[in-house]
Amino acid sequence: MVAVAVIGAQWGDEGKGKLVDELSMSADFVVRYQGGSNAGHRVVHDNGEFSFRLVPSGILYPNTTCIIGNGVVVDPKGLIEEMEQLQRQGIDVSRLFISERAHVVMPYHFLLDRLEEEARGEDKIDSTQRGIGPAYVDKHARNGIRMADLLDVDTFRAKLSSILQQKNRMITQIYGQPPLSLEEIHGEYFGYGQQLRGYIADTQNMLHNALFDHKTILLEGAQGALLDIDFGTYPFVTSSSTMAANAAVGAGLPPRSIDRVIGVYKAYITRVGSGPMPTGLFDDIGHILRDRGHEYGTNTGRERRCGWFDAVAGRFVAQINGLDAAVITKLDVLDTFPTIKICTAYNLRGKIVHSLPATLSNLAACEPIYEEVEGWQSNTSGITHYEDLPAAAKSYLKRLETLIETPIAMISVSPQRGKTIQIQNVLQLPEYDARYPRNAMR
Ligand code: GDP
Ligand code: IMO
Ligand code: MG
Repeated sequence: MVAVAVIGAQWGDEGKGKLVDELSMSADFVVRYQGGSNAGHRVVHDNGEFSFRLVPSGILYPNTTCIIGNGVVVDPKGLIEEMEQLQRQGIDVSRLFISERAHVVMPYHFLLDRLEEEARGEDKIDSTQRGIGPAYVDKHARNGIRMADLLDVDTFRAKLSSILQQKNRMITQIYGQPPLSLEEIHGEYFGYGQQLRGYIADTQNMLHNALFDHKTILLEGAQGALLDIDFGTYPFVTSSSTMAANAAVGAGLPPRSIDRVIGVYKAYITRVGSGPMPTGLFDDIGHILRDRGHEYGTNTGRERRCGWFDAVAGRFVAQINGLDAAVITKLDVLDTFPTIKICTAYNLRGKIVHSLPATLSNLAACEPIYEEVEGWQSNTSGITHYEDLPAAAKSYLKRLETLIETPIAMISVSPQRGKTIQIQNVLQLPEYDARYPRNAMR
């Protein structure tokens, strides 16, 4: 039995979907625990390509039970569309369960996401406009509607009626927009509740039993640690906690049940949306990374900013999440570069810093200090054994390990399932590695 949390260790889109797909072969349960349909996780097989927003990437295997946990905010309309699309692609979704406690993303959340962004003007977050921020605001303001509420026509009506009065005051008086209709929303969302009735469950109890039965549980993070509401580049972050610690809360598992935390990093770094990115490149190298890495949003199609690996941010993320191991993806994207840079520190107004500043003004002022290493200039995308990697690629990876103070367990060299080099089985409990003394205290 093992419960493993997989988290994004940068600004999202690190390839969590691909990794979770690979690991799901040996998993019994795969659980999303935060975020919503702002996520876009892409999985590529010989016989198809899948894009997930809410459904855990583990659904592609017949052996998994997939759970959308209490910590997720669920757009039921989008979820039904996603489930239908999977069914059209031949995937059985009867093993999917949605926590009755998960909050619902309502139409006013989508609307307010857009209106708030417009009101921010130049300072916009550049959100995915999937209603995520407003839905989490309502959850924490105790104004939320949960999945179970959709199932009872009268409870749902009473809650919606009171919340909508307040929302409509905001929509009409602050934003000067027409009010939303109680009847329309009630009818439509009660209908979604009916469609999803068979999937809404006490998922906390299912996972508790899974632990008791010594099952393997994978916790699939969305977004990335640098988008975390507390530790990310605030306010240019998402509205949920993307920390490994939240995997327990968002799934309904006891904190001590999580045996391992795996951080997924790209071999370089990307960011989509606004906010500081110390190693972001706007030159030819940035364009090459974007073209070779196809760095466009999985669901939104937005261009991602690209840059060299930021080991300052990388080490910070490893520390706060207590990473047991790192997985490095998209190594193949670096195949053509004669030299590769790694950011090892920042120059902050003349001072050398080795940690991520908390304030936006300091973050924006950070100039990366680079170390330049040799590239390998050969194709790694077919390599499945670590020994077969070019020497320069191995020494690049070793350098990353040292800088983020975390052992690398796997390396991905292509979007295709199976094109992954395994150094260590991340589903087995780690052994103490003296090279990483900080792991002992985690
Ligand atoms: P996620 O949000 O973390 O699941 O990542 P996304 O799916 O949004 O973005 C990662 C993209 O990189 C997807 O298009 C993947 O198919 C692709 N990808 C994943 N691993 C690799 C890899 O090792 N090499 C290459 N070239 N592409 C990869
Ligand atoms: P996955 O799971 C990359 C970014 C948005 C925006 C900020 C806030 O695919 O890695 P939100 O809609 O959450 O309020 O937007 O966060 N963002 C992501 N960037 N990958 C994601 O998910 C993201 N989810 C949100 O671009 O800058
Ligand atoms: Mg993504």
